[in-house]
Amino acid sequence: MRGESTVPGDKSVAHRWLMLAATAEGTSVLAGVPRSLDVQSTVRALREMGASIEPAVEPGGFHVEHPARGTLEVRGRGRLGLRGPSGAVDCGNSGTTMRLLAGLLAPVEIEVVLDGDPSLRARPMERVAGPLRRMGATVSTRAGHAPIALRGGDLEGISFEPEVASAQVKGAVLLAGTAAAGETLVREKLPTRDHTERALEALGVSILRSESVAAVSPGQHSAFEGILPGDPSAAAFLVVGAVISGGAVSLSGVGLNPTRVGFVDILRRMGARVETVEEWSSVGEPAGRITATGGGSLRGVSLSQAEVAAAIDEIPVLALAAAHAEGESRFEGAAELRVKESDRLAGVVAGIRALGGEASVDRDALVIGGGGLRGGQVHAHGDHRMAMAFATGALAARGPSSVAGMESADVSFPGFVESLRGLGLDVEPS
Ligand code: S3P
Repeated sequence: MRGESTVPGDKSVAHRWLMLAATAEGTSVLAGVPRSLDVQSTVRALREMGASIEPAVEPGGFHVEHPARGTLEVRGRGRLGLRGPSGAVDCGNSGTTMRLLAGLLAPVEIEVVLDGDPSLRARPMERVAGPLRRMGATVSTRAGHAPIALRGGDLEGISFEPEVASAQVKGAVLLAGTAAAGETLVREKLPTRDHTERALEALGVSILRSESVAAVSPGQHSAFEGILPGDPSAAAFLVVGAVISGGAVSLSGVGLNPTRVGFVDILRRMGARVETVEEWSSVGEPAGRITATGGGSLRGVSLSQAEVAAAIDEIPVLALAAAHAEGESRFEGAAELRVKESDRLAGVVAGIRALGGEASVDRDALVIGGGGLRGGQVHAHGDHRMAMAFATGALAARGPSSVAGMESADVSFPGFVESLRGLGLDVEPS
C-alpha cells in the first residue's frame, strides 16, 4: 500500500454545517461535501423541510480533489424558519442525522416524525429525547427507539450532564440551546468531538467553553463559506492499512481536530510511525496532511475508557491493527460500541476470529490477542465501518480474505475500494 491519496469530506462536520447553513440568515456555500449516504440523508431531510440545497461552483481556497466531494449552495431559512415536512423524515442509516435534527427542530413550531432503517430503529433515542423534553419540546419515542415524534416550540435552557459520552446528544442539546430562553449548558464526563461548538463559535453564536463544559446562549447565526476537511475516520482505514502492511501513504486535506485524531496517538503508542502537519482551517476546523509509514512491528496496547470514547469510530480498525501486533491489547469501557450501526463489540470479535485471530469481550472491555491473521471470510452485516475495518485488517493477513457487505462503505466512504486500488492493492469483487 503506497502513494498519495485523499478522503471524502468529514461526515460529522458536514451534518452540522448543513444544518447550520439551512437555519442561517443568508446563503452559504459548502465545498467538499461528501456524497456519502449518511450526508445525503441530512440533505434530503433539510430539503423536505423547505431548505434549498443545490450544487454550486466551488469557492477558491483549499481545494481537495476527491471524486466523492461536491460543492453545495444552501439558502438559509433563519433559525426558526424550517417548515413541517409532508411525511415522516427518513434518516436512513444515520444516527447523527436523527439526533442532531431532533435538537435543531426542537425550538421550531412544527410537528415532525424522524424515522430510519432497521439498524437506526434499533438504536437508543431516549438519550436525546430526554433532555429535549426537559427543555420544553414534546417528544415521544417508540419504547426508546425511532420513530421519534417531535412537536417543537418555546424552549428553556437547561444544565445537562449526559450519562453516556455522545457528541450527538451534546450537539443536539446545544443546537436546541441556540433558540432556547437563557443559557443551555452541557457538562461532559468524557470529552467527545467538538464540531458543534467550533462551528457555533466561528459563526458568532455566544458560546463559552472549557474542556468539559459548553454553554450556549440564544442567537441567530449568519451564513458562511466553508471547506470541509477530509474525514479523519475515513483516513484511519488507509493509515492503519499502510502501518500493518509495511506500506507508506500520505493523505492531504484531512481534518486534524484534536477530538478526532485520538487514533493517531494510539497507533504511535503501538509503535507506528504516523505524522500530522496542520496546513489550513475552515470554520474553526483544522486540516492538513497525515503520513503513515509501516515496516516496524506493532505492540499491543491498553486503552482507557476515555481513550476509547475519543476514538470511538476508529475502535474497529484499531482492533484489527491490534490483531497484527505483538502481545495482547485491551480496550476498556467499550460498551457504546454495542449501540452503533451494528453491535460492533460482538462484530469485531466474530470478525477477528473468522480471520484466524483471537478476540473476546470481558464485561465491557474488548480483548485482542496479537500475532497476526490468517485470512478468511467475514461479513460486515450492513455496517460501513466494520466492512472497511475487516478489509483493512485483511490486507496484512497471511492468506486471502473475502469481506461480504463491502457496499455499505458508501455510508461514509464512497470510493473506499477504489482508494485501496489506487494505492496499489489487489481488491476484487467476488
Ligand atoms: C458522531 C458521534 C459519535 C460517532 C458518530 C458520529 C457525531 O456517535 O460514533 O459516528 O457526528 O456526533 P455518539 O454521539 O453516539 O457517540
